[in-house]
Amino acid sequence: MNKILNFGSLNIDIVYSLDHIVRPGETISSREINTFCGGKGLNQSVAIARSGLEVYHAGKIGRDGAVIREALDGAGIKCDFLLESEGRTGNALIQKDKSGQNSIILFGGTNKEITAGEIDQILEQFSENDILISQNEISNVPYLLEEARKRKMKIAFNPSPMEDWIKNTSLEGITWLVINEIEGEDLTGSSKPEEITERLLEKYPDICIVLTLGKNGVIYSDKSGQFRHDAYNVKVVDTTAAGDTFLGYFIGSIAKGSDVPTSLKLASLAASLAVSKAGAVSSIPTVEMVMDMLE
Ligand code: RIB
Repeated sequence: MNKILNFGSLNIDIVYSLDHIVRPGETISSREINTFCGGKGLNQSVAIARSGLEVYHAGKIGRDGAVIREALDGAGIKCDFLLESEGRTGNALIQKDKSGQNSIILFGGTNKEITAGEIDQILEQFSENDILISQNEISNVPYLLEEARKRKMKIAFNPSPMEDWIKNTSLEGITWLVINEIEGEDLTGSSKPEEITERLLEKYPDICIVLTLGKNGVIYSDKSGQFRHDAYNVKVVDTTAAGDTFLGYFIGSIAKGSDVPTSLKLASLAASLAVSKAGAVSSIPTVEMVMDMLE
């Protein structure tokens, strides 16, 4: 089987539980404060590992990053390419409202210390058809994507947080583009799911689009067709990492050779379990939990 490398962010998430997301100029009190391991990169690696696959995580932690290394080890993720520095580990300040919706402020920290040289050294260990997973929370992502393309790796790209360089760069060579509606609108100018997938496929005919729509499910579209899957109806406690869980389970399932409808179903089940629990890494289900729900 081809190798899977997730070159991505590692964050310490500080979560404030609030009645509502704070408005400009407002001061509000938090009912609770909790600290979790997170970061889109870490969450996606944990989801892949919990789906039953081997995954290498490349990223950088700082002097306060021992807790992140423990989370990676605890999930059975391969840490051969985990870098360390004296800086401060990436950090996310998350406001969670009483309906479980959130709003996130990132401090990149050591995620933003990753150099082109480090990317070269790590990618040397990977080759054609190995899978690279990438988000936009580390430094040098354009370089990472370009080098992975040159090596003919399959690339799953989650353009989050969205930035201008993504809108102005060709996404040619990306295998799976995993986006939500807001990212879809940023990339195409349309807020309508059908138009988002149509416009992206017009521009990049070889790309596979996975458009997650929250409580409205997901649309998968490529040049040979389209599949939809509804979201499962569960009590929402915390939406943090739901999209990451979806991505990890979807790519994991495709990497195991499952077809798209099966992979969408599995990933939707996993994401629905993730929203029913608090936190990021702590909310990502094991494959056994997903199978139980399936039955
Ligand atoms: O997708 C959720 C993640 O986004 C959080 O864990 C936070 O760290 C931010 O990266």
